[in-house]
Amino acid sequence: MNEGKIARLEEAQVSGKRVLVRVDFNVPMAEGRVSDDTRLKSALPTIQWLTSHGARVILLAHFGRPKGKVDTSQSLKPVIAPLSELLGTPVRFSSECVGKVSDKAVSELNDGDVLLLENTRFHTGEEANDPEFAGQLAALGDLYVNDAFSAAHRAHASTEGVARLLPAFAGLALQREMDHVKAALENPERPLLAVVGGAKVSTKIDLLLNLVTKVNRLFVGGAMANTFLAANGVDVGKSLHEPDLLGTARDIMAAAEKSGCQLLLPEDVVVARELKAKAARRVAGLDEIARDEMILDCGPATIDALADSIESAKTLVWNGPLGAFEMVPFDTGTIEAARFVAQRVRDRKLVAVAGGGDTVSALNHAGVAGDFTFVSTAGGAFLEWLEGKSLPGIEVLRQTAQSGSGQ
Ligand code: 3PG
Repeated sequence: MNEGKIARLEEAQVSGKRVLVRVDFNVPMAEGRVSDDTRLKSALPTIQWLTSHGARVILLAHFGRPKGKVDTSQSLKPVIAPLSELLGTPVRFSSECVGKVSDKAVSELNDGDVLLLENTRFHTGEEANDPEFAGQLAALGDLYVNDAFSAAHRAHASTEGVARLLPAFAGLALQREMDHVKAALENPERPLLAVVGGAKVSTKIDLLLNLVTKVNRLFVGGAMANTFLAANGVDVGKSLHEPDLLGTARDIMAAAEKSGCQLLLPEDVVVARELKAKAARRVAGLDEIARDEMILDCGPATIDALADSIESAKTLVWNGPLGAFEMVPFDTGTIEAARFVAQRVRDRKLVAVAGGGDTVSALNHAGVAGDFTFVSTAGGAFLEWLEGKSLPGIEVLRQTAQSGSGQ
């Protein structure tokens, strides 16, 4: 992420103003109801700050990937009730995010009211970042606030285009998320340890290549570690791995060595003949994996070694599970390591930041998400940030602040 000041919400004069707020309400739903309200809750501080300062709040959000077409199964309507309840005040709704319906809904707002606009992705102009669509959105407001870190990797009209057309500010959740992720990777107390797991090296090549230049130690776990082990000549049996990427794994190991980053891999593993909860399993050394066995978790010696690294680290960044954590007992490595991290954070010996993809569910499963210093709800945006990419939704706030248009 580039340096440079961003205009913060608290600097904005909002009383009596129409404030467009980009939130991420792309929330899990089950049977038409919000089944996890974490993202709704994280939007509350900004909405409440605005309403208490007399703003008319207009929420912009996407849901799912309707690809520019109206699809009622991807409506934001199910968000109205839980959001109203969390805010303790009724949230208005406009069934169109641009056009006559939204114009009327916005014109009827009083100071302190909150209006949610229908899914911005019902229009092709959203993902295309079409200037005309961005202009239609901008016409609904006097100011723009981005509070959606988890959508900031998208250069869409509601995350990027509109920020160029109105004075633009970072919301409280976005600031908090940025402050935590920056503190962990850009100016951390060292030693800095990264723990990266998950299934595939192919989805995390850029991330690993960036991390080895930043961290003192990198532990690779999960099925992606199998590709590294195979690259080192270990016979991984029928373990999930990517034979095409052995060269890439070697390149990453070489890049780590060049940067002085110690790359740690499993020293022992838990193997079974099938991925089933009651499958017979055993702990195996790296030279003991049979042809018909697969690696499903880290072994105890690996967890001990990882615990030593966690113990000596001052800062930790975590992404991805360390084994087949969705299947008991192959969740043991992930749970034990996560609990050890949580204990170090509770003891105030470690700053630990986690995020991306399956990470939040893995930490929730271990019962420790609340004990980490910060757990990002962002998936793709967190990964792109770990890759060292600049996020368009944040970059535009920086540019407009520097050019003075964000003030
Ligand atoms: C997310 O859920 O990670 C964000 O809302 C982005 O969603 P997208 O991957 O559909 O752009």
